Amino acid sequence: MDRVEGTSEPHREWKTIFVTGGAGYIGSHCILTLLEAGYTVVTVDNFTNAVGIVKDGHSCVAPSIQRVEQITGKKVIFHHCDLLDKKKLSEVFAEQKIDCVIHFAAMKAVGESMQVPFLYYKNNIMGTINLLEVMAENNCHEFVFSSSCTVYGDPGDALPITEEHPTGGVTNVYGRTKFFIEEMLKDIYNADKRWNIVLLRYFNPVGAHPSGIIGEDPTKPFANLMPYMAQVAIGTKPSLTIFGTDYETEDGTGVRDYIHIMDLAEGHVAALSKLKREPSLGLKAYNLGTGKGVTVLQLVHTFERVTGTTLTLDLKDRREGDIVAMYADPSLAEKELGWTAKRSIEEMCRDFWKWQTQNPTGYRGDVSHMIPAAKSNLSESATVSLTNGNHSAVNGH
Ligand code: UD1
Repeated sequence: MDRVEGTSEPHREWKTIFVTGGAGYIGSHCILTLLEAGYTVVTVDNFTNAVGIVKDGHSCVAPSIQRVEQITGKKVIFHHCDLLDKKKLSEVFAEQKIDCVIHFAAMKAVGESMQVPFLYYKNNIMGTINLLEVMAENNCHEFVFSSSCTVYGDPGDALPITEEHPTGGVTNVYGRTKFFIEEMLKDIYNADKRWNIVLLRYFNPVGAHPSGIIGEDPTKPFANLMPYMAQVAIGTKPSLTIFGTDYETEDGTGVRDYIHIMDLAEGHVAALSKLKREPSLGLKAYNLGTGKGVTVLQLVHTFERVTGTTLTLDLKDRREGDIVAMYADPSLAEKELGWTAKRSIEEMCRDFWKWQTQNPTGYRGDVSHMIPAAKSNLSESATVSLTNGNHSAVNGH
């Protein structure tokens, strides 16, 4: 073991990271950053929220992962696996020694979560329990959880929000699954101090890898602001609805803390370094945001300027369940993880646009020629399977 500079603490040598939900938007960018940082990555995904196909019921292809391999020139060990299938999860986990787990896999559409709560609780919470049990059975207690600023509920005037702010009071099922999992992790750590856990509370991740080769490919019709904006700009959607223009903000529209996906991915590498350095870290939560609040209209106008497009806007009433404003105090992550978000709103728009224009149909073209010869797990079939209530999901934030 090396020594950490300036301390007598042993620096653990970690090699292999297990990533759940690796084919999704955040998962794929994070895997790229992990590979570039020298880690070996083993990942699982069930393609509920990510484009991919399973061939012969066995081998699988996910364009996002293939493209990560293309960019980095490195291989990813990838399995089609549902976290609810504990037997298979145990098998793939035990194939190699895992040093730490980063858990992205989750269903993440707020509106949908209100319609099919059972499914969200089953997939997000039971999937996490299975994962933690498999980890413990394999004597792995190092865990990074993909949480969300949604756990703070409505912050009111408590902005910028710190990690000290009470959690709970979440108004939607998706958000409650994140909150409940955080609470569960606290109980698990309190019962067994071998666990070392980092909760990363993401603000609003946007943008894409600067190559435009990987990016966000929403598989559900519940789009967040930036993907919707880009669809309007390329002409797939007629107009962008602005949900609420009478908020008490600079221009009447909602305020959020948009963070570039590559900054967010780098936050995970910083969290791993922290866990490596501090074997008895315990359980710590960190905000991953920029600390800057941006209104919907400010984002729209920056996007128009950077991309040279003009968006047709449709000013509407507030969206149910929306809060006025949310932005992070990211100083704890800076102090303890040595991490800050570096990329600007302009870069977020430029990189998302590059991805969108280079891939107007997302990843679908990469696998469409393999269908129907292989079993499709594209979004359409995933949406259908939701009604059957028998699918677990991946790739949330
Ligand atoms: C949403 C989720 C949150 C989740 C986050 C990231 C809700 C209530 N919250 O946050 O739990 O963690 O996504 O996935 O949905 N807007 C428009 N027009 C649009 C879309 C959005 O005006 O077509 C506005 C919204 O009103 C909001 C801002 O843009 O002010 C950002 O919206 P969105 O991207 O959906 O993210 P959040 O609502 O912040």
